[in-house]
Amino acid sequence: MTNSTYTLPFDEYGQGPCALLVHAFPFDRRMWRHVARPLAQHRRVVCPDLRGFGHSSSMPSPRSVDEHADDLARTLDALSVDRASLVGLSMGGYIALAFAERHPSRVAQLALVDSRAGADSDAQKSGRKQSMAIVSSQGVTALYAGLEPRLFAPDPLPIATDMMRAIAVAQGREGVLSALAAMRDRPDRTDTWLSLTIPTLCVVGRHDVITPVAELEELAARAHSGRCVVIENAGHLPCAEAPEALVAALDAFLFAR
Ligand code: MLT
Repeated sequence: MTNSTYTLPFDEYGQGPCALLVHAFPFDRRMWRHVARPLAQHRRVVCPDLRGFGHSSSMPSPRSVDEHADDLARTLDALSVDRASLVGLSMGGYIALAFAERHPSRVAQLALVDSRAGADSDAQKSGRKQSMAIVSSQGVTALYAGLEPRLFAPDPLPIATDMMRAIAVAQGREGVLSALAAMRDRPDRTDTWLSLTIPTLCVVGRHDVITPVAELEELAARAHSGRCVVIENAGHLPCAEAPEALVAALDAFLFAR
């Protein structure tokens, strides 16, 4: 199977208009475990494993977020879905925005969760280099041990931290390295975000130190129809820390379709 024909493995729930949930780094579709089923009461919810992660980890991983976005388009083709609502969490948001730029007619709504539209700063690019060195020399578990303290609100519930750690440490080095390169090299898509005329939403955990509240609020304020929902008791990963609140925010937004 060549990369140009590969369709992503996915979990699927419900029936109706399609919502595509795009996972964060360095996780896989299982991070939507507490979100996908409740969201699927009124729609079809599809949660893929991006190439290089989860059940796609044996596939050669894309080195660009654009290629990840095209994987999503092929997966929608395979599902006979012309148009979907996209929800991307952090890295998933970078990919969802690339999808909106490359396949604009296929996006009904776009929600960025704890994500951003801009490119990596120089400091963030050098952080990627350090992360790649850690993965190459010590593995994904060592990388995640360094990331973990910044991912959660203070005093996180073990049920949330345990779930996300178990998913992260199961990822392979190759996929993680490729994703680090893809995120480092992604372009600034602020203009794409600002030009969107479809309904958009920003969601962010109150305690997110990676993509802070002020950044998401500004992104929402500058968008055509943007709104920003702040989730209390969550940091960067509301899918695990406050799934009910995330479902409520997404459900209200997606219902408008
Ligand atoms: C993520 O959660 O996907 C990452 O924090 C994204 C990033 O490293 O930029």
